[in-house]
Amino acid sequence: MNLELKNKVAIVGGASKGIGFGIAHILAQEGASVAITARREPELSAAAERIRKETGVRVLPIVADARRAEDCRRIVETVKAEFGGLDILINNDGAPPIGEIMSFDDAAWTKAVEQNLMYVVRMVREAVPLMKERGGGSILNITAISAIQPIPGFALSVATWSGVIGYAKTLSLEIAPFGINVNTICPGYIDTTRLRKVFAAGEEPAEVVQARLREEIPVKRIGTVDDIGNLVALLVSSKGSYITGAAIQVDGGLLRSVR
Ligand SMILES: NC(=O)c1ccc[n+]([C@@H]2O[C@H](COP(=O)([O-])OP(=O)(O)OC[C@H]3O[C@@H](n4cnc5c(N)ncnc54)[C@H](OP(=O)(O)O)[C@@H]3O)[C@@H](O)[C@H]2O)c1
Repeated sequence: MNLELKNKVAIVGGASKGIGFGIAHILAQEGASVAITARREPELSAAAERIRKETGVRVLPIVADARRAEDCRRIVETVKAEFGGLDILINNDGAPPIGEIMSFDDAAWTKAVEQNLMYVVRMVREAVPLMKERGGGSILNITAISAIQPIPGFALSVATWSGVIGYAKTLSLEIAPFGINVNTICPGYIDTTRLRKVFAAGEEPAEVVQARLREEIPVKRIGTVDDIGNLVALLVSSKGSYITGAAIQVDGGLLRSVR
């Protein structure tokens, strides 16, 4: 299938490693020019160099913090100046801390809202006018399966990503007439640095947790960043244009629910 992504322009957030890197790499393989963002410059530049080398497309690293409004604005302005427009926006970054609900004060909640919800709101506000200028586009948010099936300890993410799912659904209704689709992917367990850190922070040895998870996940394995990236590439391509307002789990069958 030709996804017709050649010469499209994409912004991929949190792409120096993990899920964001996997998405940026697949979009680049499909011929899209990609602007990638993260806070740490050396890792971001190394990721940009690797994608450039392996795919031959134009890759623009932009050092930015998703929690800062001025950084969100600067990302989109830089892409407009360098690439002349924007077709695809992937909202992805890190996540707020894990802990018991009762342990978080107002400052922690405000930070989580800035990182997970306001980041998406701000990026979309900057990006949609450029997509309208192009006659269409695609927006894709990365959240987590816990936004649909909550896990104790993940309240800051669950509550704010539920907001993202509601926001994205509403947005999809309002901007469908402009040829822009909006979807949210809810990953299950995906093998990245972050997941390995979560395992390492637990009381049980990481190998024990991993073995139990492999047993629990119906497809009997932990996911890869390509499991996410392949679906993203389809959803943001012309072939995915009839899919909008969806929140889709990519979890090896882990979600125990019909909806
Ligand atoms: N891995 C999983 O199993 C899994 C499952 C469900 C959901 N998720 C969610 O998917 C997202 C990506 O996870 P991952 O596993 O790919 O994480 P990861 O491997 O730690 O990568 C996170 C990326 O985001 C960047 N980042 C973090 N905080 C940022 C900020 N404030 N502003 C800009 N960039 C930021 C990081 O670079 P810098 O640190 O240099 O900024 C890095 O490039 C997270 O929201 C995570 O909660 C992951």
